[in-house]
Amino acid sequence: MSTTSTPTPGPHTLSMTTLMTPSMVNFSGKIHGGALLKLLDEVAFSCAAQFSGHYVVTLLVDEVRFRAPVQVGDLVTFHAAVNRVGRTSMEVGIRVIAENPIARSSRHVISCFFLMVAMGDDGRSVPVPRLTPRDETEKRRWKEAEAREAMRRERSTKASG
Ligand SMILES: CC(C)(COP(=O)(O)OP(=O)(O)OC[C@H]1O[C@@H](n2cnc3c(N)ncnc32)[C@H](O)[C@@H]1OP(=O)(O)O)[C@@H](O)C(=O)NCCC(=O)NCCS
Repeated sequence: MSTTSTPTPGPHTLSMTTLMTPSMVNFSGKIHGGALLKLLDEVAFSCAAQFSGHYVVTLLVDEVRFRAPVQVGDLVTFHAAVNRVGRTSMEVGIRVIAENPIARSSRHVISCFFLMVAMGDDGRSVPVPRLTPRDETEKRRWKEAEAREAMRRERSTKASG
C-alpha cells in the first residue's frame, strides 16, 4: 500500500440513466448482458472515484443477478452507492431500474456489488476517506456489506488453503 494523502470524501451516491439502443442487442433481440456489465463497471468506477478522489480499479464483482430482461428502447437507470469502506477498498452496490418510457412501466432488473480499490500514482493501493452511515438504510447496507466481505474472505482463504 502507498502512503498518498487521503482526499476529503466526495458524494457517495450516483445515478446514471442510459437509453438502450439496437447496437446493444444479443441474438434474441434483448439487451446483451455483457453490454450491461460494461455499464455497471463504469458506474462502479465513477461512484468510487467520485467518493474517494482517486483512480480506482475493480477488484471483484459479487452477486450479479439479472432478474429480468432489458429491452431496446428502455431507459435504464443505475443507482449506485458506496455501501462500506475498508482501508483502501470500497464496496459499491448498484440497483438497476429499466423503464419503458412509452408504457410508463418500470422494473428492477439487476442488483450487484463491486469491490473497488483506490490506487495511487505509483500503482499501489491507497487509503480512502472514511464513510459514516447516516440513516437506517445506510446502516443496514454497511452491515450487509460487512457480511459479504466476511464471506469473500472465507472463500479466499478456502481457495488459497
Ligand atoms: C486491486 C489490486 C491492486 C489489489 O492488490 P493487493 O496486492 O491485494 O493490494 P492490497 O494488499 O493493498 O489490498 C487492497 C485491498 O483489496 C482487498 N483485497 C485484496 N484481496 C481481496 C479478496 N480476495 N477479497 C476481498 N478483499 C480483498 C484488501 O483487503 C485491501 O482492502 P482494505 O485496504 O480495504 O482492507 C490488485 O489485485 C490488482 O491490480 N488487480 C487488478 C485490477 C484490475 O485490473 N481490474 C480490472 C480493470 S479496472
